[in-house]
Parts: sequence; structure tokens; C-alpha cells
Amino acid sequence: MTFEKPKMNRRNFVMGASALGFGGLIGLPQLRANTAQPLAVQTRNTAFSIGGRPATKGLVSFTENGPPPVLRFKRNQRARIDVTNGLEEYTSIHWHGLRIANEMDGVPYLTQFPIAQDETFSYEFTPPDAGTFWYHPHCNTMEQMAHGLTGMLIVEEDTDPGFDAELPINLKDFRLQDDGTLLPYFTARGAARGGTEGNARTVNWETTPEYQIPTGGLVRLRIVNTDLTRVYKIFLPETEGKIIAWNGNPVRNAIDWPTQSAPLWLAPGERVDIAMRAPQSEDQSVVVQTLIAKRPEPLFYMRTAGTPIKRDLAELKPLPALEVDEPDLKTAEVKDILFGWSPEGTGSNNGLCGDFGYTFWSINRSPWPGDAIENTGPVVELSHGKSYILRLTNKSPNLHPIHLHGLIFRPLRSNQRSLPSNWTDTILLLKDETVEVAMRADNPGNWAFHCHVIEHQKSGLSGYISVV
Ligand code: C2O
Ligand code: CU
Ligand code: CU
Repeated sequence: MTFEKPKMNRRNFVMGASALGFGGLIGLPQLRANTAQPLAVQTRNTAFSIGGRPATKGLVSFTENGPPPVLRFKRNQRARIDVTNGLEEYTSIHWHGLRIANEMDGVPYLTQFPIAQDETFSYEFTPPDAGTFWYHPHCNTMEQMAHGLTGMLIVEEDTDPGFDAELPINLKDFRLQDDGTLLPYFTARGAARGGTEGNARTVNWETTPEYQIPTGGLVRLRIVNTDLTRVYKIFLPETEGKIIAWNGNPVRNAIDWPTQSAPLWLAPGERVDIAMRAPQSEDQSVVVQTLIAKRPEPLFYMRTAGTPIKRDLAELKPLPALEVDEPDLKTAEVKDILFGWSPEGTGSNNGLCGDFGYTFWSINRSPWPGDAIENTGPVVELSHGKSYILRLTNKSPNLHPIHLHGLIFRPLRSNQRSLPSNWTDTILLLKDETVEVAMRADNPGNWAFHCHVIEHQKSGLSGYISVV
């Protein structure tokens, strides 16, 4: 097992192929987290520029410099992360997408007591699935995520699929004023509607960065939307490539290559893994874009460097199949779950984890009464080992990326579109859409279940599913 000290200087942060060799990882500092790894949540003392604004004040991070590191794990190996809270408020850290024991899930009051200032909580788990995941606070979530606490988490396959380079891409907006201080991170108006979007779009906390990729090499893009609100609509030029994983899991039904007329919607909390072959000649650029309103905007660039290595997509080993119990659709019980508005209320009791001050949203017509309220019942109770179909209905005109902790499901059908039936922990519901998803309740515990537009989550669109 390896233990690498974080490498946080600027040179490493934008480490290109030349610095690493082409087997390398490009884009973000990485932390190998197989053995006990300290992770400090702290206020940043050094200035950090975002979107050309020189000294972004008030940011919070897991390191003194740079964005949150990519945590890398080996599948099926025990890992421990000692989270020390250096903030003057409570926190907890959640490992989004990992199917681990409930006590390690990081949800205040539901699975643990929030971590106080200067306290350390040791998260110990064995990640069962290889894939692209992420981590973020679940206490004072709105504020701490808006201030920068959203990191990527990678669980490696047992055998390397054979890429020449890998690019972890953390998409996140910030809400900044001209002087680099943070704007209020939510608005009541936004929370009651589609959410409040940021004004400084970043990729690994930089504006339209460019990364070197090996000419003719096989590149794995791991793209994560860690934003609080924005649904990215991603597309690439016609390149030789394919989508190999969605929301952490290898695809079983193919997903079309995203183009400008049919981009891939990546909602808050969602991830996509793309395998592509870099152009065959040197100094060629490939741009990944998103649509903002209907306008294409560049997110980041990749530029080929080095003598062509002439790889072929067919040389990649397929990602190992997911080890998950198929739901038994014949015996599956159907549970109806509605997401919609609630009568406007004055908020909830989140105990030590921040009172948002409003309720606008509900699940099954009741707004979440707050993290810290005792005897709050689950949205539904499922029997351990049994199969279920959750019929998820959006009774509002707004988009809701619905996320379930600790378990995965796959869509069966929608009343509006055809959906590939790939395993996921998050599903985006469109206006008035009903999506049926199937799952087996194979992980016992109380699992948080909420919209990943954080303003919705924190104003009522939250709850938990109990597996007993
Ligand atoms: Cu990223 Cu409760 O989740
Ligand atoms: Cu989660
Ligand atoms: Cu929502």
C-alpha cells in the first residue's frame, strides 16, 4: 500500500504529460488514500484566483493551496480518512456514490453526530466498486460546498484498462463579486425555483484550462459535476471515443456520443467517464464545451503533444462488470414517491448544521423537517434483500437530480423519453416527468435521499430511505 504526501504546488497542479510521462494523470493534485490519510477541512489563508479574480476570499479547502485533491482508492481495499474540522462551524463528509456501511456515510444525525471544530472523525470503509465518485460536506452543505469543499474520488479498477492518460475534471461554479469575495450562495427566489447559478464557471477551479494529452493516445476523461445548481450540457467534437461509465458505473446500455445538437446532460452530483483517442498529429486541440442557454461555451481544451503513439480504442480492456444483485422485476414491489412544492414555511431544524430559513419543497407532500428533528420517519421503508420499483414523479416545472445514498438503481422507463438502463445513484427528473427505477435493497441502513440542487435539498426536498 502506498502513502503519498499531497503535492500541492502549482507546477504539479497543472502537471502535463511532459512532467509525468504519458502514463500519468493530468489536472488535479492526487492523494492515494489506501492507508490512513489525514484530510483537514480548513479556511484557506492564501489567496486563490478564480475566473481571473485575483484573491478569492473566504474559500475553504481540504488543503492550504489548490482545489480539493482527488482521493484515489483501490477497489476492495480498506481505507481510512481522518477528517479534522478546522472550521468554526460543524461539518461532516459524505462519499457520494460509494456503497459502504451506513455509519460511514457522513450524514449528520442520520448516521453520525456532526464533527465539531478541532475534532477528528475517522471514516473507514472498503469501496466495493471501481469508478468515478466525489466527496463533499453534508452539514452546512450549502455554505461549505459554495465555498469550495467539493472533491473528486476515484476507485481504480483491479486491472488497468490501458489508458495513456487520465484527466479528472471537477466542474463547479462560484458566485463571486469583482473583488474576489463570495456573493451570497443562495437566494430565496432561486431556491423556490430552479436554483441560483454561479457567475464564475470553473474546471478544476480554473477558467478554460488546457491540458496536454499524448498524440494518438488513449485518454480517459472523468468528468464530475460538483456544482450546487447547474446542469451542464456537455458535448465534444466528432472524435473517436465512447462513453464507458455513467455515474460511477460501467454502462450496460450504450449512451450516444454527446454532440452540440444532442449534448449529455450532467446534473449536480452526476459523473461521466469518456474514453477517447487523441488526434493523430501533434499540436491538435480538442475542446469540451457546454451549452449555456443555447450558446456553446468552452469548458476546457486538450492539446496533443509528443510523437504519435498510434493507439486504438479497441486495445482498451472493457471495464469490469459491476458486482450488484439484479432486482427481481417479477416480485418487485412498487413505491410511489412524489417531488413537488410545499406551502412556504419558515425552515427547519438542522441542529448544528445550518438552518436554511425556508421550506419550498417536499417529498410525498411533506417538507423535510430538518436533520436534527428526532423521530422523523423515512420516505419509504424497504426490506433488506427485496426488490423494488421506485416510481419517481416530478410534480414541478423545475429540474431535480434525485440522489440516493448507499444504494444504486437503474431506470426502467420514463413517461417522456427513452432512458438507457444503466446503474446510477442519481437520476435527473425533467418537468412533470415520471421515471421508474428498479433496485435491490441490499445495503441496510438509513440512506439520505434528496435533490442535489442544494437549495432544493436544504428547503425541503430531502428525506431518507430506510432498509431494514
Ligand atoms: Cu452528494 Cu447526499 O449527497
Ligand atoms: Cu451521496
Ligand atoms: Cu431539486
